Amino acid sequence: PPPEQMWKEDSAHGLTAPIGEGPHGRPVLLNLGDYPPHALIGGPSGTGKTNLIFAWIGALAARYSPAELEFYLLDFKEGVSFARFAQGRRDPSWLPHMRLVGINVNTDREFGLALLRFLAEELRRRADAAKKHEVTKLAELRAVDPAGHWPRIVAVVDEFQALLAGRDVVAREAADLLEDLARRGRSQGIHLVLASQDVRGIEALWGRPALVAQFTLRIALPKALRILAERNDAAQALPKYHAVVNAESGMTEGNQVARIPSASDWETWSELQHRLWRMRPADAAPARLFDGDAVPRLTAAPDFRALTPPAGDAPHRGPVALLGEIIDVQARSAALRLPRAPGRNLAVIGTRVDEACAVLDSAARSLARQHRPGTARYSIACLDPDADPVARALYEDLADDAAWYDEETVPELMAETAETLGRPGTPTIPHYLFLFAVDAAAGALSASTGGRSGLDRLRRILHDGPERRIHVLAWWRGVARMRADLGGPAARTDQIGAWVALDVQGGELGSSLYPGTGGPDWYPRPWRGLFFDRAVHRTGQVIIPYGPFR
Ligand SMILES: Nc1ncnc2c1ncn2[C@@H]1O[C@H](COP(=O)(O)OP(=O)(O)O)[C@@H](O)[C@H]1O
Ligand SMILES: [Mg+2]
Repeated sequence: PPPEQMWKEDSAHGLTAPIGEGPHGRPVLLNLGDYPPHALIGGPSGTGKTNLIFAWIGALAARYSPAELEFYLLDFKEGVSFARFAQGRRDPSWLPHMRLVGINVNTDREFGLALLRFLAEELRRRADAAKKHEVTKLAELRAVDPAGHWPRIVAVVDEFQALLAGRDVVAREAADLLEDLARRGRSQGIHLVLASQDVRGIEALWGRPALVAQFTLRIALPKALRILAERNDAAQALPKYHAVVNAESGMTEGNQVARIPSASDWETWSELQHRLWRMRPADAAPARLFDGDAVPRLTAAPDFRALTPPAGDAPHRGPVALLGEIIDVQARSAALRLPRAPGRNLAVIGTRVDEACAVLDSAARSLARQHRPGTARYSIACLDPDADPVARALYEDLADDAAWYDEETVPELMAETAETLGRPGTPTIPHYLFLFAVDAAAGALSASTGGRSGLDRLRRILHDGPERRIHVLAWWRGVARMRADLGGPAARTDQIGAWVALDVQGGELGSSLYPGTGGPDWYPRPWRGLFFDRAVHRTGQVIIPYGPFR
C-alpha cells in the first residue's frame, strides 16, 4: 500500500495480503483466519519458498500494525537471511512486528520445540481469556476486551522437516504440539506457516491426518510434490518464480496461479523495513534473536544481572549457580539451586575442556554475585593445565575469598574440608569447591594420611557437605572416571544431585544417574550440554554454555 495507507487494516477477522499477480494482472490474495487457518508451502530447493515468505511477511507487515499482528520466525536451514528482521550490527533497524527470530537452529531442534511450547502457552492464555469473557473466538474476544492486547500471531517455520526428522522425543513432542496448535489455534488467532523443500517433511505430517487437515492453505512452487491434492499436478508446469495458491486443501478447483515478486534481496526489503521501523511505537523492543551459531555471554544474561546478595543479614535460602543458557524463547539461564540439602553438588562430565571450564566458571561467578566479599569461600583446584587459564582468571577475580590448589595440595583441601565436617555445629559461611578435572587427582588422592585416603574424604564431602553448606562442583572427564572416584562401578550416585553431560553418550548416563532405563535421548554436539537436576527435572535440559568471561 502507499505509505499513508500503511497499518490501517484490522486483523479481528483475519489477515489478508496480496502475494503476487495472477492472470490479467489481478492480485492474488492470501488469507489467514478462521478459514483457512494455516499454510503449507512446498517446492524443491531454490524455487523461491523463502522469497515468498519475505513477500508475504512484507505485504502483511505493511498493512497491519504491530498491535494487530506479530511474527515468530524459525529457519532450520543454514543461512542468516532472516537475521535482518532483528536488530543487526550493521543495520540498526528491525521489523516492529517481529517478536522472535531463530536462525541456524538446524542442530538445535529443541529451539523449535521451545517456540511451539511458547505458542501453546499463549494459546492457553487466549483460551482462558475467551472463556472468562464467555466468548469462543479471537474476533469476539477483541470486541468484548477492546483494551486487551490480542494481535494475530503468525508463526513461520522454514524448512520445518528438520524439526520432525527422526523418531525421537523431540520429533514426537513437536508433532503433538503442532497438532494441538493447528487444531485450536485457528479460533485464537494463532496461525502456522510451514515451508519445506523435502517431501519427507510433508510425509511426516501425512502420518497425522488430523494435523494436515488443518493446513487448508497450500502454496506450491514449481515442481512441488505432495503439497496439492493427489491428482492436482498444476505445480509441475509452473514457470519460474510462480506459485499455485490454493485455499481448498489443494483441490484442483482452488488453484490460483500467481507470479511472485522478488522480495528477499536486501535492497528491496530494507526500504520497507526502514519505513516500518520509523513508524514503530515508542515502546517497541527489537525481536529476540536466537542464533544457534552464537555463544551467549553470562554478563548479558538477564538472570545473571538480576542476582544480588540477600538484603541485610537475612540468611541465604539457597543460592543459585547459573550453568548456561536454556534453549527457550526467553533466553533464561539454567539454574542449579544449592540449598542446605543432601545431594546438592554438581558433576560436569566429558572430555571437552572449554565447555567444562565455561560451565564451572559461570557457576562460580554467579554464586559469587550472591555473596558479599568475605561471606563465602571458593576453593579452586585445577588438575588439567588446559583448564589453567580459566581457573586462574576465576581465582584472581574472586580475590581474597578464593584459595588455589593443584595436584600436590589438593589432598590438603580434602583433609581440611573433611575435618570441618567432623566438628559439631555448622560452618558459618558457605564453602564451594570447584574441581577442574578432578579425576586427574585420583593418584594424589589415593594416598592415605591418618588412616583415610583423599578419595574417602572427597566421598564424605560429597555426601555430608551440602547439608553444611559445603558444595562440590566438579568436572570429571568421563562417567567411568567419576564412578571410580565415587567408589567403583556399583557405587551410589545420589550424592551427585545434578550433572551436565558434554561429549557423553546418552546410554552412558543410564543406571542411577537418570530415571528410567537406557539414559536420556542425548546426542552430544559442540558447545552444548545436557543438564539434569534430579530435584526438579523429569528430563534433561539442553544448555548452551556461556562464552569465556574475559
Ligand atoms: N519471485 C522471485 N523473483 C526473483 N527472484 C527470486 C524469486 N524467488 C526466488 N528468487 C531468487 O531465487 C533464489 C532462491 O530463492 P529462495 O527463496 O531462497 O528458494 P528456496 O527457499 O525455495 O530454496 C534466491 O536467490 C532468490 O533471490
Ligand atoms: Mg529457503
